[in-house]
Amino acid sequence: MKRYGFLGLGIMGSAMAGRLVAAGLDVTVWNRTAEKCLPLVEKGASQGSSPAEVMARCDITLAMVSDPAAATALCFDAGGILEGVAPGKAYIDFSTVDPATTVRIGEAVTGRGGRFLEGPVSGSKKPAEDGTLVFLCAGDQSLYREAAPVLGVMGKKSYCFKEVGQGAQMKLIVNMLLGTVMTSLGEGLALGDKAGLQMADILEVLTQGPLDNPLFRMKGPQMIDNNYATAFPLKHMQKDLRLALQLGDTVGQSLFTAGAANNLFLKARQTGSGDEDFAAVFKTIKS
Ligand SMILES: NC(=O)c1ccc[n+]([C@@H]2O[C@H](COP(=O)([O-])OP(=O)(O)OC[C@H]3O[C@@H](n4cnc5c(N)ncnc54)[C@H](OP(=O)(O)O)[C@@H]3O)[C@@H](O)[C@H]2O)c1
Repeated sequence: MKRYGFLGLGIMGSAMAGRLVAAGLDVTVWNRTAEKCLPLVEKGASQGSSPAEVMARCDITLAMVSDPAAATALCFDAGGILEGVAPGKAYIDFSTVDPATTVRIGEAVTGRGGRFLEGPVSGSKKPAEDGTLVFLCAGDQSLYREAAPVLGVMGKKSYCFKEVGQGAQMKLIVNMLLGTVMTSLGEGLALGDKAGLQMADILEVLTQGPLDNPLFRMKGPQMIDNNYATAFPLKHMQKDLRLALQLGDTVGQSLFTAGAANNLFLKARQTGSGDEDFAAVFKTIKS
């Protein structure tokens, strides 16, 4: 039986690893804050002592951590996965990072004879729990084919682009749009509210035209209710906007709207909403 490792048990990682355990796979988990492993260990997972040990123990090690600094630490720090890489060992990193970071990690893994795939995901907490994520992979095509069944346990659709870094690019474009659209929704609701309209009426009208979409239908009512229970932490949305702006800088593409959205999310972070859901940017817009 193939052995899978899973590093990083935050909102997304715990749900994704949970699906692997529930599917009866042999899973070894590790998280920086070790006690977060407990719920999965109680359901049958093993607990690893370090990323290096998980990598050495498992055939395919998967990772889902917060940002470029975390993904880099997981790979290059003492006890990191590089110390466990051996020829044939596979590493798949689902974290949302910038293209340069994923390229650097990929080269380090393959430089030691390992196999590497990036696989940032589209979808949030609920799709992770339901196994309906979308994987935006790139890298080792044979590893992609080999990992297809396990990706199928966690997701409804996968893509595999050619060059490592293209998965990160695709993910940053998706989230740049998500962030800018969220700020536009917030501004529309705030404007209508101050003008004397009912925000619920605005959402209802939007469902009847070309702006009808699952994001508005899901987040709109929560914003009206001031319910910011975290599915996608606002601090990660701002990180993704920042990385998208960096990508724009690298390739010479101006991103006016995304720049404005980034400033709003940055302000929301600074005023204490970083750990709330990204819809909490509405509070900053209203203020
Ligand atoms: N939530 C979503 O809706 C969503 C959707 C798509 C993609 N994403 C992306 O998925 C990734 C994870 O998101 P999440 O929502 O699961 O975040 P999260 O709940 O904040 O979890 C972050 C994870 O990263 C770990 N971590 C942070 N810094 C670390 C370091 N220096 N070394 C090792 N581990 C470190 C944390 O460990 P501790 O427990 O020890 O803090 C935790 O396991 C992010 O890149 C995010 O942008 C999220």
